[in-house]
Amino acid sequence: MASQDEIKSKVEKLRAEINRHNYLYYVQDNPEISDAEYDRLMQELKRLEEENPQFLTPDSPTQRVGAAPIEAFGVVDHPYPLLSLANAFTDDDLMTWYNRTIKLVGSRPFDFVCEHKIDGLAVALTYVNGQLVTGATRGDGFRGENITQNIRTIHSVPLSVPKDAPPRFEVRGEVFMPKSGFLKLNKEREVEDQPLFANPRNAAAGSVRQLDSRITAKRPLDTFIYMLGYAEGKATPPTHWETMEWLKSLGFKINPNMRLIKTLEGTLEYFRGWEKQRENLPYEADGIVVKINQINLQNELGDVGREPRWAIAYKPPAVQATTKLIDIGISVGRTGTLNPYAILEPVAVGGVTIKNATLHNEDDIRRKDIRIGDTVLIQRAGEVIPEVVGPVLNKRTGKEKEFDLLKKIYNNEKGRPACPECGGEVIKPEGEVMYYCSKAACPAQAQLRIEHFASKGSMDIRGVGENISATLFTKGLVKNAADLYYLKAEQLAELDKMGEKSAANIINAINNSRTRPLARLIFALGIRHVGEEMAETLATEFRSIDALAAADHDRLTSISAIGPKIADSITAFFREEDNLKILQQLKEAGVKMEEAATVKKDLPLSGKEFVITGTLENFTRPQAEAKIKELGGTAKDNVTKKTYRVVYGADPGLKKTRAESLGITLLTEKEFLELLKKAGS
Ligand code: IVH
Repeated sequence: MASQDEIKSKVEKLRAEINRHNYLYYVQDNPEISDAEYDRLMQELKRLEEENPQFLTPDSPTQRVGAAPIEAFGVVDHPYPLLSLANAFTDDDLMTWYNRTIKLVGSRPFDFVCEHKIDGLAVALTYVNGQLVTGATRGDGFRGENITQNIRTIHSVPLSVPKDAPPRFEVRGEVFMPKSGFLKLNKEREVEDQPLFANPRNAAAGSVRQLDSRITAKRPLDTFIYMLGYAEGKATPPTHWETMEWLKSLGFKINPNMRLIKTLEGTLEYFRGWEKQRENLPYEADGIVVKINQINLQNELGDVGREPRWAIAYKPPAVQATTKLIDIGISVGRTGTLNPYAILEPVAVGGVTIKNATLHNEDDIRRKDIRIGDTVLIQRAGEVIPEVVGPVLNKRTGKEKEFDLLKKIYNNEKGRPACPECGGEVIKPEGEVMYYCSKAACPAQAQLRIEHFASKGSMDIRGVGENISATLFTKGLVKNAADLYYLKAEQLAELDKMGEKSAANIINAINNSRTRPLARLIFALGIRHVGEEMAETLATEFRSIDALAAADHDRLTSISAIGPKIADSITAFFREEDNLKILQQLKEAGVKMEEAATVKKDLPLSGKEFVITGTLENFTRPQAEAKIKELGGTAKDNVTKKTYRVVYGADPGLKKTRAESLGITLLTEKEFLELLKKAGS
């Protein structure tokens, strides 16, 4: 039996630990431990306090919600606190919750509403006389940050509501970043050498808490409203389900996957359904929420501590794990970045064995205080590559070693830090977090540049992926991207595991790539800081590689999207002798280096937005998009009310379902071909 003093000290230790994690999670958006581990700590504290009520204090983390708001924003008092949810991790947990509910409700009938638990951040939006007046974060549940300016930039948030809405009311919901937007944002950040967001939740939180709302406005944020906070001056519906329908009619965005469910079995089925759909959903959800539908029963059930009794989150065990960080390795990226990565003791995370994980950059390693030899928490979230979240501090032995990138790449022969692949000089441009190998001919970079040149978003040369480009490079057949156009089918056919047919296909794909749009060629060149969007801008502005190559720093920065950093990078690229040689070679190989200006207005598909989903037989995705663009139309990623047609192929995604629900005309591939024909392509 532990003595009173021992219990007291244990309770205090737990509180301090939980408070620290609260701060890391809510204030810094930078959690160190998994949600599951956090829940475990919290549960242990709760149990100790229940068994030893003499040690319960009002400031215990079990007695409040979250942590303090950051001070840069004004503070908003929540008239009714924003609560959090109790968790169930197994069917049994859910049944326990159900049985407790039944006990309190007695024989009165009720049903459930099941919803996805969106992984973003909670917001409360207040409307007075039909106008959005405040948008606030949850903060500590009682007081949040005033983020109204930022919320106003999110398109799915109505700035005003119809006149018949209550004169004052508050809705609550989740701000999140759709997966596609998250991947795109990180891709852009990678090109711009900005630190990547670990997951859509952090990206959403980081975006909403920008002090400059113009930055928020550029981030692909979205919302789902999931409850009414309160309403004054007007009666509101008696059930949650009807409330959601009503809020929808007022213009709020409600998750279409919400379901009214009669039985407990039904809620379990809903959970299994979500698990199956999870990977294919356009947003990240970390579980489901089961709510009692009848508002009078909700009020009667009330809250316990910081959690309502009328709702519960059902979450699968997290796909996180802890393992040992054996060492930190360095890989060289396409633009010469020296990327630190974790070499791990192999560990299973969500059914996959992980041996390596990204560590972003040296600053990040320092900030998280990750040391070699540490036990670290790693995480695999959806489609994102595994990453090291942080060290597990209480597993430290004192033998761990801090990581020093320059020491790691110190080259004794050269007497200085050097690129681990080619020995080239290492530089760190001012204001950037990454180190670079400055040698243009670095083989690691050259090989990746070839792969990038051939990749889908670039020249789209089918069959030349990671393996083939590596083989071609190491065999000396292709030393740079332009060499691809001088390859012979016989040379390819001689490679391991390559038949004549595949060789011919590759040659064919290489030939076809000669006429890709200028923007793709510019992107394919792999100029540092020039992503797909920037390449589009440059193509529209200059219309030819020669004109772009001739542009000086001033000419480039006269374009609003181009700052000095990008201009430097472009001019440096076209100064490099090796690059000019490659461009000459490409020209001689007949690769299209210019593009006539298209007058979009008069084209048959001008102003029409298309979305493509699934696999088409006759086109690759980029080819289909190029056809649409040639005829003046645009190709978009997301189906909206503005979408003109959705073209679907085999295994279409949720975009097709969404189009159906919005009443947008769907086209089979055959119908799409007919439309192109009619439009004159
Ligand atoms: S209802 C009192 N519904 O989960 C119940 N919450 O711990 C309040 N969340 O930060 C929440 N999706 O922002 C509810 N469909 C949903 C949700 C949801 C995500 C978040 C919520 C809060 C956390 C609850």
